Amino acid sequence: MSKSSLSPLSSKCRDIQYLNEISYSYWKAQVLFVAVEMDLFTLLEGKGKSCKAISKRLGTNLRATEMILNALISLGLLSKVKGVYKNTAISNRYLVKGNSLYQGDRIHHFHNLWDNWSGLGVAIKTGKPTAYDNAEEEVDERKLNEFIKAMHNIGIIQAEEVCKRLDLKNCHKLLDLGGGQGTYAVRFVKGNPKMTAVVFDLPDVIKITKRYIRKSGLKEGVMVQAGDCLKDGLGKELYDIVFVSNLLHIYKPVENQRILKKCWDSLKKKGIVVIQEFILNSSKTRPLFGTLFSLNMLIGTSGGSSYTERDMKGWLKKIGFKNLKKINLSLDSGLIVGYK
Ligand SMILES: C[S@@+](CC[C@H](N)C(=O)[O-])C[C@H]1O[C@@H](n2cnc3c(N)ncnc32)[C@H](O)[C@@H]1O
Repeated sequence: MSKSSLSPLSSKCRDIQYLNEISYSYWKAQVLFVAVEMDLFTLLEGKGKSCKAISKRLGTNLRATEMILNALISLGLLSKVKGVYKNTAISNRYLVKGNSLYQGDRIHHFHNLWDNWSGLGVAIKTGKPTAYDNAEEEVDERKLNEFIKAMHNIGIIQAEEVCKRLDLKNCHKLLDLGGGQGTYAVRFVKGNPKMTAVVFDLPDVIKITKRYIRKSGLKEGVMVQAGDCLKDGLGKELYDIVFVSNLLHIYKPVENQRILKKCWDSLKKKGIVVIQEFILNSSKTRPLFGTLFSLNMLIGTSGGSSYTERDMKGWLKKIGFKNLKKINLSLDSGLIVGYK
């Protein structure tokens, strides 16, 4: 068969395969969700186990268990040698509970968003959120705890790089605005012993923040402040640096300008504001995660979105921040930095 007769067919196959992969990618996600939620990878740490032993320990159906184990091999998350299923390097490192880089809570958070995403079609039609968590309503403690755990999984990875990329030598007082579980504040203080930090977040979150700070082993240096940054002030000229990580995507541009003006007020002269976000390119079409995350905000907030570098620099410039720059990070996020 000549090459020319093959190529149109193979490009057709590639196209169809590409569409298939997008369409069934939720099958892959479900396999991962179920495996993580059964805590399969923790069970297989070390020597591994046979399918029979796994199904006995998990109380699952033998035939079904073999099917999911085989799918996990295909996904590169397990291996099988002589009937013994074992973790691969990636599952050992990130999916075994108790490991410092554990990502299972973040994966579970994506599963929690599953129902929200089934409302995407309606949200596209109406432009309105279909799964809006109104901060004024009573908080679902389980959901909030799971959300915060997921933020911690991501934070543990990100905070290392953020710390390496920022020069915080002359920063003694830091505000971690919308700081959630305080992962970043703790990491900043651990890396800069002369620094103290305040984690500012909504009152229900601050109760959880205190637990995370206690667990971090830091005896002092990280304080908490409960409040709503849309309603409450952040203080006047108190901080050398305000870190605003993954907060602005929840809100509309006009709300973000209000928040950033409060950051300005709370900063000392020459203070630094650092925004961490999933930053879109100027045409808002890349990176893929940022474009999808915008839809996640469409579904779940009353006006949130991923934003471009230009959007964020524009807000900062209007307020008066200077020497604006972008720092790319290795995962899906980036930093926007400005000086008072
Ligand atoms: C996506 S989480 C990010 C947490 C943390 N900054 C991080 O990057 O891991 C957003 C945080 O902002 C907090 N937040 C949202 N709206 C807020 C508001 N109006 N005032 C204070 N905190 C707020 C949430 O409670 C949550 O902890």
